[in-house]
Amino acid sequence: MALTLDKNWWRQALIYQIYPRSFKDSNGDGIGDINGIISKIDYLASLNIDAIWLFPFYPSALADGGYDVDDYRDVDPKLGTLAEFDEMLAKLHEVGIRVFVDIVPNHSSNRHEWFKEAIAAEPGSAARNRYIFRDGKGANGELPPTNWPSHFAPSAWSHESTQGGKHNQWYCHLFAPEQPDFNWDNREVEEDFLKTLKFWADRGVDGFRIDVAHALKKDLSEPLKDQHRYPGYENPLTGDDVLFDRNEVHEIYKEWRRLFDTYNPPRVAVAEAYVRPERLVHYSSPEELGQAFNFQLLEADFNAHEYRSIIDISLREAKAQGSSTTWVLGNHDQVRPATRYGLHPSVDRLRWKNSDGTTHPLDRETGVKAATAAAMLIMALPGCTYIYQGEELGLHEVLDIPEDQIQDPQYLRNHKVDKGRDGCRVPLPWTRTGSSFGFGTAHAHLPQPSWFGEKSVEAESGVAGSTLETFRTALALRKKLIAPEELTWHETSDAKVLHFSRPNGWHCITNFGRNFYDFRGVGTILHSSGPLATKGIFTLHGMATSGNDLPPATTVWLQA
Ligand code: NOJ
Ligand code: CA
Repeated sequence: MALTLDKNWWRQALIYQIYPRSFKDSNGDGIGDINGIISKIDYLASLNIDAIWLFPFYPSALADGGYDVDDYRDVDPKLGTLAEFDEMLAKLHEVGIRVFVDIVPNHSSNRHEWFKEAIAAEPGSAARNRYIFRDGKGANGELPPTNWPSHFAPSAWSHESTQGGKHNQWYCHLFAPEQPDFNWDNREVEEDFLKTLKFWADRGVDGFRIDVAHALKKDLSEPLKDQHRYPGYENPLTGDDVLFDRNEVHEIYKEWRRLFDTYNPPRVAVAEAYVRPERLVHYSSPEELGQAFNFQLLEADFNAHEYRSIIDISLREAKAQGSSTTWVLGNHDQVRPATRYGLHPSVDRLRWKNSDGTTHPLDRETGVKAATAAAMLIMALPGCTYIYQGEELGLHEVLDIPEDQIQDPQYLRNHKVDKGRDGCRVPLPWTRTGSSFGFGTAHAHLPQPSWFGEKSVEAESGVAGSTLETFRTALALRKKLIAPEELTWHETSDAKVLHFSRPNGWHCITNFGRNFYDFRGVGTILHSSGPLATKGIFTLHGMATSGNDLPPATTVWLQA
């Protein structure tokens, strides 16, 4: 299937996120790799996706899973080579699948050539000016320069001596100490990233996912200011917080857009920006990155009211900017949606995760059912849908990773207050049994639980009603049904049921409540996320795909 030159291909695309280290291992070293992805192109094609987004695959010591990049223009030798990357890209393109790569512009790793040069250089040197080095406070400079917090450590400042530096300065890192922040007021940094974007775009990469897009520009005017911090503080709508979502950051993306538009079709980009919806639209404007992740559903319960208001706000904001919105239920940073929805909404998820899931029961089946219903709902909305690998299998979070095998700095560096994100990054199960459930021929780099076999691609393939087959049918239908980016809400007799349609008569009804919902007369049933019922009763041992009643935690698609 040849790729088109349509410059709007991304507006309502279905994008599948791959975490390469945990997708498929081709050489038995326990780490997923590029050849592993090549070996599963048939699988990806069977999902009817438009593109994949690859989590960082660059050389890295994995202080943050790969978001600590040593070299932006190479492939980690543990994952493959540039030649293998090119082969993967060509083969994916042959089957009509485009590729996004992850760009990490806020910080490099401490092993990046530039950082090594900076540490060896004098204060005030050009090499140090690519990063953010400052003298400390206190009589002997023994205190960090400001109160800036790090996501993975108490302070965003580490003393250079921790990296072998000898000049009593501190360097800034909003994440782990191995992730020094670039100085985006330095033109050399801007130019180097343009070179990186061009490097991948010239190879044929179709799009870019931009990591922490809202943090690049900081207020570096002297003297450096502390960041306001008090309970409930939010970055101001005026764009003048010291660290985040500053107005100047948009100049960077305008320049990137000019580069993207020199390609045919123009390269696309999606911003990861944790900012308020009113501000997010700047990142996704057609003059800038074009698209931004809409993370509101990550926080939502499986609740009709919350979904409805998030959908309305998101569509309105995106439309006002001429962009299309995005729908995301999970990614490599989040507890898997099946697990979130299998927990009572009142449960403190962090405490629960830290207890290895022992403080409250998890209703595994209901969780998968609700997550599948939610997935079919977002697939039917106007906009672009992101799926994270394993969601199509109905995978739950893995909760019992032994402490000595945890890899995530979120846990290791943050005084163990958050068990971290490894639970959604465990290597995929491809087969029912066998070494690492078919992930590779040997072990998996994170331990897989015994229940993975029953959630494997082998166990679910060809089984009517499995999560995988439900996704496959839905994704194939979605491709045919995509309609203009409009949505009409229809009133329902139950406030816990949402019903909307698209201009071509594609109806989507989701039951968030506990009662059966009669949808008689809407149209012909196309597909449902679970068995339907007649007069509130499941037929055919719960496998019925016909009936007029929508059971709880189920979505149905109809053609009017
Ligand atoms: C956001 C990424 O999604 C996350 O995994 C990473 O830890 C941070 N950015 C830092 O790069
Ligand atoms: Ca490998």
